[in-house]
This record gives sequence, C-alpha cells and structure tokens, in this order.
Amino acid sequence: MCGIVGYVGRQDAYPMLIEGLKKMEYRGYDSSGVALLCQEGLKVVKAKGEIDVLEEKVGQPFPKGNLGIGHIRWATHGAPSDINAHPHCACTEDFAVVHNGIIENYRVLRQWLESEGHSFTSETDTEVLAHLIEHNYNGDLLKTVQESMKKVEGSFAVVVMCQRESHRLVCARKDSPLIIGLGEGENFIVSDVPAILNHTRKVYILEDGEFASVTASSVEVYSANSSVVQKEIQEITWDAASAEKGGFQHFMLKEIADQPWALRETMRGRLLNGGKELNLSELDFTPEEINDISKIYIVACGTAYHAGLVGKYAMEKILRLPVEVDLASEFRYRDPLLDKKTMIIVISQSGETADTLTALRLARSRGNKVLAITNVVGSSVSREADKVFYTWAGPEISVPSTKAYLTQLLSLYMLTLYLARERGLLDRQALEKLGEALFALPAKVEQILDKQEEIKEMAAYLSPWESAFYIGRNLDFAVAMEGALKLKETSYIHAEAYASGELKHGPLALIVEGIPVIALATQNSILDKSVSNFKEIKARNGYVICIVQEGTEGLEKEIDRIFYLPSTEDLLTPVLSAVPLQLLAYYTAVARGCPVDKPRNLAKSVTVE
Ligand code: G6P
Repeated sequence: MCGIVGYVGRQDAYPMLIEGLKKMEYRGYDSSGVALLCQEGLKVVKAKGEIDVLEEKVGQPFPKGNLGIGHIRWATHGAPSDINAHPHCACTEDFAVVHNGIIENYRVLRQWLESEGHSFTSETDTEVLAHLIEHNYNGDLLKTVQESMKKVEGSFAVVVMCQRESHRLVCARKDSPLIIGLGEGENFIVSDVPAILNHTRKVYILEDGEFASVTASSVEVYSANSSVVQKEIQEITWDAASAEKGGFQHFMLKEIADQPWALRETMRGRLLNGGKELNLSELDFTPEEINDISKIYIVACGTAYHAGLVGKYAMEKILRLPVEVDLASEFRYRDPLLDKKTMIIVISQSGETADTLTALRLARSRGNKVLAITNVVGSSVSREADKVFYTWAGPEISVPSTKAYLTQLLSLYMLTLYLARERGLLDRQALEKLGEALFALPAKVEQILDKQEEIKEMAAYLSPWESAFYIGRNLDFAVAMEGALKLKETSYIHAEAYASGELKHGPLALIVEGIPVIALATQNSILDKSVSNFKEIKARNGYVICIVQEGTEGLEKEIDRIFYLPSTEDLLTPVLSAVPLQLLAYYTAVARGCPVDKPRNLAKSVTVE
C-alpha cells in the first residue's frame, strides 16, 4: 500500500513526480524517493520522513529530465530508512524500480542473485526486482521485465526505467493497482488516481498480468503471453476528494470494502495450498519455547482489545491453556501476575498506542518475551517487541477501525492453529479443515459486502434511536462488544454490549417498545439458548435484529429482522459477523449526518496516556 508515480513527456519530470506524490500523502507513508533520467545519467534521491525532507535533499535547482519515477513507501520488508526507500537500483545505476506489493519469494531470489555476483544494499524485497531485471537485461526493457516477472511470486505494481532506453517506462501489475494516465505529449503511470487528476482524466486501467511500455506519445499494453491488448480509455469522473477514497464516500466504507483484499494479504505466504498448509516460520519459535507456554496474556486497547477477546475464546478452546485479555491501561497499573511461562501478546494496529507500549515495556522489564501483532512496520511496538507478526492490512485512515480488526482476528486464528500444531493438539485433518475454512473467509466477506442494501434498511430503523443493545454468547459476545463500539464512535448512539445470559440481571429493565437490539446467534452449538434470550426481548416489545449463519431455520417468526452470514466453522464466525455490524454503524452514522471518518473527541492513534 505505497504510492507510485511515473512520468514521461515534454515537461520537467521532477515537479510532476513531487506533485503526484503529494497527492497520495493522505494514504500515510514513512519515506519517499525519486529517480530521474538527467543528462549526466540516472539521479536517485531518497529520504526517510515527509516529502519535504526529500525536496530539501534534492535541493535547488532541481535536476532536469523528462522521464522519471517516484514513490512513497509504507514499510513492509525493512524498517523505514533512506536506504530502504524506493526507487531501488541494481549493481550498476542503469536501472531504477519502484514497487507496490510484496515479493513472496524474495529470499530465494536474493540468495540466487547474490550467488551470481549481485550485491544488495537494502533490506527490501523490491531491490530483488532491480537486480533480477539487470541480470536478465537483453537490450529490450519490456521483454526483460516480462521474462523477469515470471520468476516473481507475490503481488506487484512495478514501474521500471533504464538509462539505455531513455524514451520509455515499462510497468507491470499483479494484484496491486496500476493506472496509466493519458496526456497530450506526456503520459503517467500511477497507483492512485488522485496523483494525476490535475493533468488528465483519461486513463487505461491495467489488469492483472498486463505489462505496458509507455513513452511520451504512445502506450502499448501486452498480456502475460505477450499479445497486444487493445485497452479502452476510461474517463475518471470523481472529484479530487472522492478520488482519494477510491470513489467511496468515506475512508471507513473504503476500508470495509478493502477487507477481502486485506485478509488475503494477511494470509499471503502463510496459509498455503488452499489453507491446507500453515507456514509461520517467520515467528522463529523453538519447540521448547512453544511447549513451555503455560498461560497466554493478551494486552491491547480499543478495537484491538476486542480482537484479543476473540483470540481468547479461540485459544482456550483449541490450546486448552488459560488466556487472559487485559486492557493495556489496566494492565500497566495493576501489578499483573506474570511468570516466565506466560506468553505475552500485544495487539496494536498503529504500534504507537501509549498504554500498549507501556504494557509491552512492563512485561519485558519482568523478563517476559513479547509477541506483537501490529500493522505498522517500524512502529514503536514492532521495534521493542521480541517477535512481530504483521497484519499487512495496509494503512488504515478512518478513526473507526475495521480492516485492522478483521486482520487481527485472522492473525490470532493462524497463531492458534500454529501453536496447536506445534504442541501436537490437532491432527492433520482437523488443521486442514480449519485452515481451509480460514482460506475461504475473504470470499465470504465479499458475499456480505454484496448485501449492503439489507443493512441500509436496518440502519434506517436504527438511526432515530439514542440507545441500542448488542447481545451474544461466547464469541458472539466478543463481537457484540466491537459492534457496540463501532456504533458509539461513528453515530454517537449510546450502545451497550451484553452477554445474552445477563439480560435478566439488569438490562431487561431498559427494554422498551421498539428499542433496537442487535442479537448475534452465530454459534450453532448454543443456538437454542440464544433464541430464548431473543424471546425475552420480544416479550417486552423490543426490536430484534438478528445475525445468524445461513441454514439457521425457524427464526423469522420470532424476531423483526434477520441477516444471514455465509456459513463457516462456529469458531471463525467473528470474521464474518463483524462485517454487517461495521456496515450498520457506518450507514447509521451517515443517516445521522455524523463525520464518520473523524468522530468528535477521538484520534486514530492515541500516543498519550
Ligand atoms: C484508538 C483508535 C481505535 C483503536 C485504539 C487502539 O482509540 O481510535 O480505533 O482500536 O486506539 O489503537 P491501536 O493502534 O493500538 O490498535
């Protein structure tokens, strides 16, 4: 989830690149860089930090040249630094490459290229591409890139320039967006529409597997098997603000829609062979470390804490180990009981939340090893933890967290299966069954996203109310807490989550005619128990919106509205049931005219206590 700009034309490339990069700043980044073809050769400048730092480093007068590439990086492989920033060159400064995505087999390729005499300067996966292209170069950049990319596994949007072919840029895409902007006597290659809106609204959108050669006056697009593709020109009609959100009205909705992609990124290289194989060797645990664990402690804040609650259910069920989940703000002040056999897991999207960071430091100061689940490479949490498991959800911009939550859940499930396998608790068949069910989740989230009209109708019912309840048992209770938080922060409706069985111990007194109760009943093994709670609410004329798995029969008459999730293993339903709750909060907030992405009084990253 970085940003790419390429320019070839009559004008100076440098200001074009900087302008394009600035238009993508909203996405979040940690470093930037440009490569320009100047009279004296290829000039590459890269800098950690804001684009201003890059501009200062480039200085004035800026280098002249009509062809160049630029990039803003959001670190994945290798910490944010000048050296790890893009563009990357090979051994000679003949080639420069910018890349979005992840090269899964970069270690193997790097080893091979090193054995062939290439020397690397950065820790990135991307540098492999520059050396690979240099190694294979046959005088034709397009053909070389086509051949080289056949060896690459993973996702990529890549733009390459070559000093010996000063008239063109070559680009390729697979699973990461790339757009060619068509100008008069100039053309652009960008990862995001906002980067070109000031210059053109006519674009070619590259499809997976396509390659292109782009000069100032021509664009040739080829398919993976090298046949010419006749692209249709698309006209971008979005204004600048909606272009930043990919055409969505808010970042929250865009990020909800991103979730199938984000889940696939979290799985990439980890859940293989349709989910049958799990590879978490990145965690580098020894068998002794794994077998020694006698208790697990999960510490986090906000939405990440709610993900931890789901993790607790999953881990206790499968690992048969005690799991405690604590709010970081509580953990740090309550002198927690930790012994050396307690595994500490902190969860933080940003990796910068002050309470979570302090909790991590406290645990380490007691001699415990800490595993961090986080989304941001180079964040404080990732730097200070002993082991890091990245969620790879891409930057999350909306304050109400959505895709971070789903990818945290998936990470916890994968971790649970990994520990279960290493401790010999699940046989191969059981592991494969759960792995396959995990692998199928992104497509099921897509099915839910297709049913947004149903959720809009529910939101229309909810929006005039000032109070709502979310109820569920076990895993459903954990998700109910996240659903209630989403509604509170986006729509300012007071929402309370309750364990269904606790209704009769207090909240039933608040059930008045018509009050909305969002009732989760996805756990088929305890469905009857849940249904009897819904009846308690209906008997008092509450309005019950129920979320169940497909195949649940006979409920329609008992309740007011029902939303069916695609069916899955009971243990994994939170990844699905959270999605209608996110959408319900979103559409309710929109109906109430709330500033969805930036709710009052809240911040995306809480770096103070
Ligand atoms: C803030 C955000 C929440 C987030 C929480 C923890 O309150 O608004 O969305 O869940 O911080 O953030 P973290 O980055 O540590 O996951």
